[in-house]
Amino acid sequence: MKLVVVSNRVARGKANEPMTGGLAAALLPVVENSGAIWVGSSGRVRDGNQEPFAEIESLGSGALALLDLPAAHYGGYYEGFANSALWPAMHSRPDLIRATREDYLSYREVNAFMARALLRFRKADTAFWVQDYHFLALGAELRDLGVTNSIGFFLHTPWPARNVMSGVPHARELIEAMLAYDLIGFQTEEDCENFLACVQHELDLPVHDGMIVSRYGRSRAAVFPIGIDVDMFAQYAAKSASHPEVSRLRKSLNGERLAIGVDRLDYSKGLTNRIRAFDKMWSDQPSLLRTASLLQIATPSRGAIEAYGNLQTEVAKLVSDVNGRHGEIDWTPIRYLNKGFGQAVLAGLYRTAQVGVVTPLQDGMNLVAKEYVAAQNAADPGVLVLSKFAGAANELDAALLVNPHDIDGMARAIATALTMPLTERRMRWEAMMGKLRRGTIQQWFESFVQELAETQLDRSANAPLMPDRVDMWPRRSAQAGARIH
Ligand code: F6P
Repeated sequence: MKLVVVSNRVARGKANEPMTGGLAAALLPVVENSGAIWVGSSGRVRDGNQEPFAEIESLGSGALALLDLPAAHYGGYYEGFANSALWPAMHSRPDLIRATREDYLSYREVNAFMARALLRFRKADTAFWVQDYHFLALGAELRDLGVTNSIGFFLHTPWPARNVMSGVPHARELIEAMLAYDLIGFQTEEDCENFLACVQHELDLPVHDGMIVSRYGRSRAAVFPIGIDVDMFAQYAAKSASHPEVSRLRKSLNGERLAIGVDRLDYSKGLTNRIRAFDKMWSDQPSLLRTASLLQIATPSRGAIEAYGNLQTEVAKLVSDVNGRHGEIDWTPIRYLNKGFGQAVLAGLYRTAQVGVVTPLQDGMNLVAKEYVAAQNAADPGVLVLSKFAGAANELDAALLVNPHDIDGMARAIATALTMPLTERRMRWEAMMGKLRRGTIQQWFESFVQELAETQLDRSANAPLMPDRVDMWPRRSAQAGARIH
């Protein structure tokens, strides 16, 4: 089987270059080794009604195909429908949904454009694996072009409750379009159940054990929690002292304890609540003034969207207020940076911090939580303070789990983390590392691709589509393999 992976953003970065977003950074090491072709946006747009043009470069044992997206539709697609309608809905913020009909049409145009571009990479044994909310309708566009190959989809964000999703204009059409995918992957059971509830209620289709039969044939929805490259992160962290940023940070601390937060500047990340929790902690426990500070890295993102501009102003104001009230002539409570760092440097920053604070209001998985754990020193590990609304909380239940809406509770948990004895820190860390090792990015990639390969076997065997027999279909076939070359 030949694999073509599709995502809006792709990674070309090296360990030392900053990368935006979890998806691209997480996929890079596995796609590189798989021999797959990775197709995504070049970050440039093109005028006119030209046919898709992709610039190809090599990527590990495979290739990277970078596509200039159509200029006339890019804004409506990316800032419009994807990030001002789908993103807020996926993160249960229906109050932030803004979408015009033009935005939706642009979103569909870009999905159709990508489908045309993919035809070039299609062979009889190709399977396509589409990533994320930017391309909910790409499978349906490929089917309209006559593509009968296996097509999988993975959603990196949460899938919200039915009443939230139904607030997205054209939600029904999009959910129906998603059924063109043979395999639909989610981060958590809850996301998968929410999706299936939408299928049942919006489309009035029966669901049996994650199987759905629609006019496209049959699809299976299942859970594949994404992981990280644990060994790579641990190695980066162990070697990190050589990075000037890491050694400068260490020198500047003078024995002071450090908590770290690393996020895209996004309203789903709970940044203002987190800063309020630190404010509360320093007010309630003055012994932590001068002895524990926060390094908050918040990489600017989607700046052209009003909600993001407003958030940037709000967070900056809050940080400056807290620093003004608690700071001293020689001590700054919150070091606030609006820039990104490469993964090797981040690993060193994580290892330097005694506490990792990952407190999103809603998050698909949140790989920073996993990276923080993997980067720790086994002999003296730090403590993870983790929102119970991050997908990672399902696996990392040995973290200090917090409710990001409860500022007092978070303040107490951060103080507990900063003062936790070594035995408890080690016990919690070992439990979390065990989980990370049982669910790496390599295992995630292989298990999805294997299931996708099985759908291909089913397709080539021309399995009849008989809705009344849905519960008799085998879930896995033992002989299926997933060789990608
Ligand atoms: O959460 C899903 C995700 O794809 C992340 O990987 C990434 O942070 C974000 O959505 C997309 O961000 P961007 O708009 O910067 O590509």
